[in-house]
Amino acid sequence: MIKPLFWKDNRLFIVDQTLLPTKYSLIEIRNHLEMADAIKRLAIRGAPAIGIAAAFGLVISLKAFLRSTHRNFFKHLYENIEILKKTRPTAVNLSWALERIRNIAKNSESLPTPKLWERLLNEAKVIHKEDIQMCEAITEHGYKLLPEKVNVITYCNTGGLATGGLGTALGIIIKAFQKGKNIHVYVSETRPLLQGARLTAWELSKEKVPFTLCTDNMMAYIMTNKNINAVIVGADRIAANGDTANKIGTYSLAILAKFHKIPFYVAAPTSTIDPTIPSGKDIVIEQRSGLEVTNFLGKHIAPENCLSISPAFDVTPANFITRIITEKGVFKQPFHLFQ
Ligand code: MRU
Repeated sequence: MIKPLFWKDNRLFIVDQTLLPTKYSLIEIRNHLEMADAIKRLAIRGAPAIGIAAAFGLVISLKAFLRSTHRNFFKHLYENIEILKKTRPTAVNLSWALERIRNIAKNSESLPTPKLWERLLNEAKVIHKEDIQMCEAITEHGYKLLPEKVNVITYCNTGGLATGGLGTALGIIIKAFQKGKNIHVYVSETRPLLQGARLTAWELSKEKVPFTLCTDNMMAYIMTNKNINAVIVGADRIAANGDTANKIGTYSLAILAKFHKIPFYVAAPTSTIDPTIPSGKDIVIEQRSGLEVTNFLGKHIAPENCLSISPAFDVTPANFITRIITEKGVFKQPFHLFQ
């Protein structure tokens, strides 16, 4: 299984996903600022993975204060949480994981700082382990929804690189293949940063799952001509009513799927559900640099000074979603995600 990060001998390493698939390179993360930078530039990415990464990034940043007073330890804990939270605003897993660490710290206030730190490290490990288990349960529920012979479309990257485990949407696809289903995957490249072409295609090649890479604007053609049985995507934040934020372009794909009467599945752990927001209107969409659009793989491709925007995500309204697959089970419309 591909791991986006690992903790070894009290050191934290991530795979630099900006260099994949041409180069597999590890970066050691020594403090919260290095982790914040890695998350912002998508060296580590995918909603569940950035939650796990932020938790470990916070813990490693506090290693410098083991001999410090409680007051100083907590001051840095709170400051570093805020810095990490600001890195990417859409994926709720990030603040969810950081708040878990904050709560453990508050409940363990009486411990000496080295022991307190051990407890926080343990919580980061638990968050990681739970994500592996959630992926396992999601894939188990999800693969059963697919017919024995199946052509699926997927978008962005939702596999091992984006989570602690096998993945969510891509995990379902890989599990279906491993369980012997006759599956073919149409991978949408995912402009502007090509997570589909660079990461999903790489993961599927490693797992030997048959796939065809397509540009994003081919999807209506693919749905019309390739007997597509399902579209499966991940999520960055799901509102209480089921509206789902995911990689920019997901909403267009959902509209096309509905038009072509193809089931549209969202797969995500419950750590991606935000019970505090009633609908997708309240989801903050991360706005990235327009240079992501005017540049392609480091090369400028547009006229000088042209305007461009790069919203990282869009919101698919719940009524375009056939099922939401979580570790707790498969939800139908109308979505009651908190039962
Ligand atoms: O900008 P990214 O690459 O972090 O966007 C990732 C996605 O949109 C994924 O679909 C989502 O985080 C789910 S990952 C299991």
